[in-house]
Amino acid sequence: MVLDIFILLCLLVLTPQTVIAVDKGNFKTCSQSNFCQRNRNLPEGEPRYHVFPSSVTPEPDKGILSFHIKDNNGVTLFAVLQTLQQGILRFSLKEFHPVPTHERFSPSEFSLDNEPTKLPFKVLSQSDTQIYIQNGEIQAQIEFSPFQLSALREGQPFVVINKRNLMNFEPFMSKDDWNASGVDVEGTWEENFKSHRDSNPFGPSSIGIDVRFLGAKHLYGLPEHSDGLSLSDTKSDGGDPYRLYNLDVFEYEVNNRMALYGAVPLVYSIGANGSNGFFWLNAAETWVDVQKVSDGGDSVVGSLLNSVFNSGGSSYIDTHWMSETGLLDFFILPGPTPSSVSEQYSQLTGVTPLPALWSLGYHQCRWNYKDQEDVAQVDANLEANLIPYDAIWLDIEHTDGKKYFTWDANKFPDSIAMLDKLAERNHKLVVIIDPHIKREDNYRIYKELKERGYLVKSSDGSSDYEGACWPGGSSWPDFLSQEVRQYWSECYLVENYSGSTSNLHVWNDMNEPSVFTGPEVTMHKDAVHMGGWEHRDIHNLYGLLVTLGTYEGLLMRSKHQERPFILTRSVFPGSQRYSAVWTGDNEASWGHLKIVVPMVLQMGLGGIPFVGSDVGGFFKHPSPELLVRWYQVGAYSPFFRQHAHIDTPRREPWLFGEDNLRIIRDAITDRYQLLPYWYTLFYLHTQSGAPVVRPLWYEFPEDYNTWDMYEQAMVGSAIMISPVTEIGQASQEVYFPDEDSIWYDKKSFVRFTGGETRSVSTPLDKIPVFLRGGSVIPFRMRVRRSSNPNPDDPFTLYVVLDGKQEASGCLYWDDGHSFSYKDGNYLIREFSYKNGEFSSAAGATSGGFSTKSWIERILVIGLKGKPIKVALSSSGDELFTKWDLDSKTLEIRKPVENIKTDVKIRFSF
Ligand code: GLC
Repeated sequence: MVLDIFILLCLLVLTPQTVIAVDKGNFKTCSQSNFCQRNRNLPEGEPRYHVFPSSVTPEPDKGILSFHIKDNNGVTLFAVLQTLQQGILRFSLKEFHPVPTHERFSPSEFSLDNEPTKLPFKVLSQSDTQIYIQNGEIQAQIEFSPFQLSALREGQPFVVINKRNLMNFEPFMSKDDWNASGVDVEGTWEENFKSHRDSNPFGPSSIGIDVRFLGAKHLYGLPEHSDGLSLSDTKSDGGDPYRLYNLDVFEYEVNNRMALYGAVPLVYSIGANGSNGFFWLNAAETWVDVQKVSDGGDSVVGSLLNSVFNSGGSSYIDTHWMSETGLLDFFILPGPTPSSVSEQYSQLTGVTPLPALWSLGYHQCRWNYKDQEDVAQVDANLEANLIPYDAIWLDIEHTDGKKYFTWDANKFPDSIAMLDKLAERNHKLVVIIDPHIKREDNYRIYKELKERGYLVKSSDGSSDYEGACWPGGSSWPDFLSQEVRQYWSECYLVENYSGSTSNLHVWNDMNEPSVFTGPEVTMHKDAVHMGGWEHRDIHNLYGLLVTLGTYEGLLMRSKHQERPFILTRSVFPGSQRYSAVWTGDNEASWGHLKIVVPMVLQMGLGGIPFVGSDVGGFFKHPSPELLVRWYQVGAYSPFFRQHAHIDTPRREPWLFGEDNLRIIRDAITDRYQLLPYWYTLFYLHTQSGAPVVRPLWYEFPEDYNTWDMYEQAMVGSAIMISPVTEIGQASQEVYFPDEDSIWYDKKSFVRFTGGETRSVSTPLDKIPVFLRGGSVIPFRMRVRRSSNPNPDDPFTLYVVLDGKQEASGCLYWDDGHSFSYKDGNYLIREFSYKNGEFSSAAGATSGGFSTKSWIERILVIGLKGKPIKVALSSSGDELFTKWDLDSKTLEIRKPVENIKTDVKIRFSF
């Protein structure tokens, strides 16, 4: 009873139903986190760890180099350096002696796609003071006293570990031993925050390391933060380090380093050594300090490089990584380009498998579509207003009392009829399934979870952990256990999920997990998971585990025939293999719109490409102008969904007047016309891990003007967006990267030269989108009700020429929903224009997908002049063409009967 009243009070105070600004007091600063303080305050430059030379054991054939490290107190640690594919180095460190109290958790099993392949290395030299080895093109050097690890290319170091002697490894020990060490300070064995007590029964076990990126000018990454793209110097502004601790932050602020819903401890550098990466594999609470040091001015060469080429010269960036517990385990990704860093990272943690085509379409959501009638109305209005869409979404109110996998029978008396009706017109339904389980004995799922002992336990280990979330008193399944995930997966089977059909897809929210009554709105760190792991050990992984259970359930439901779609809020490395993600509870303000692009970019760099924001802003009501501009950003974000808080006025596109409706429809139409390109980009991501939407510097790493830019972005390598994110902006400055490039406005085909900033007019109906010369971009111009009502619709190709009058590109296509592409049921077309000839040919790995789709139009943009003849190279038959003098574009009508037909077209001038 007391708990119930407490829960009710907390709900009243904390629920976002009452719109509140972020309450920073609910979330810890570094100074309120004992381990963050302990690590941040370590004296720099005092050697504390030394390698025992006689322990160094190279096993070159196995790719393993192991050794012992002793700290100044005589504690021995066991270190392993592994040499992996593409020059990747992995280093891990743990206690040498078996630990009597607690093991160190490693999230590898869940985060890594496979056990990474170790490659043999060569020992180049070894002495009493160091060992120097070669892994492919990369060398690694370990200096023994003090311990220091450097990664080098051609003998030049680019990343140095423990240069500042901030390495810290607090071995687990008994409380008596800790007390005997004389460093007992408040907060080590028990930590209090607000009214919450963390019993921390195993004592301090934090780890830390400093990492120097030599030659670096910028660092990027560490999603998820509502911050610009280039990481800021956390030391110079007196603020906190970047925090990675998955939290439900109501009405988060922009330009802030506070933790948000997801955590990917990965950074990319850029500078004189190209681009390098560092990946810290740890699921506990983590903080990262960044310090930019520009000492280029001291040397002639450095100063020249810095001031003239701005390339980094002898500048460097220091980082300091601190985690509360867990295995000390990290990877150095040698790059040397941004795309090689993302490829190396994706080889470790995997890629997003090909999404179902429909999931790349437009999604219509709100908290909540009230009932079946409301859903039917929204569907009818979308249809009547000629707005294509792929899915309608239902939020928590569709359930019976927030008991997931159930329906509110009054509002949704016949959910199957609703699902089937949507399916008739190729529309889907996505429903929310949160991981908090209402503690109600007549709720079957709760009862079964409880009876089988499948719920997370409280710190005492015997009773089920209890807290509050949307349903009030709740408990949480222990997704760390395979058995529990299996149970959860089975809940999705149509036979177990009454009122569902295969047309229902899933949104896993609140999976940080959000606990309204918990410390920092999450689970107590001393709650206990299977195997005796503390929640502290696995916290940032919990959201991934929820989606893993869901993913397997959806696969099971379709007997492995259909690609699952899941949207998650919480992510961790590896989440990309199971789900799309959105940037959580933003608000309808221009500041929040402006931060969307960098947040999308950040997530893509973090290996999670399928990302978007709540279009219109979750909290508050957008002005028509803000909503329109948000649609324009959404249409060019990988995940495109309108969503709104329950307390906001309705905001479907037709409620904002004819003009705004038209402009919104145009943005959605742009999205649908470009679906073949989006789909191809997701395919390319599966091959290389490249983010779908990426920063300019990712494509143009040598153009240093792009290094600090984040308001413009590349969609793949062929399209640049520069969305309007300011009120009343009639024109904007756009930077066209790379002086060797040519760019064209997507609609008017006006030409821009690379390496210049130009002012572009931006009336409300204008989305500044530019095509990169040198690309062939596939479109489908016939926009229908949804992504796939007529699979045989034709394609249109834009052939956008560069300064050499050349272009290339490709199309990936398949049935859009099944796994038959794995059996070769797909097609890849390679397009090129060179030496006055266009060619469409089967890609090297093209499969056997059969289709009746044809090429409706080829639009050649940027020709040096009007050709006198355009004919099939094989037969000489002339093709029907139309030359547009104003835009200097040439249109070729219906050159081939089938997209799969190889064709060459000769242009004579
Ligand atoms: C959380 C989600 C939001 C959702 C709401 C109700 O605040 O972030 O998208 O609408 O919960 O389920």
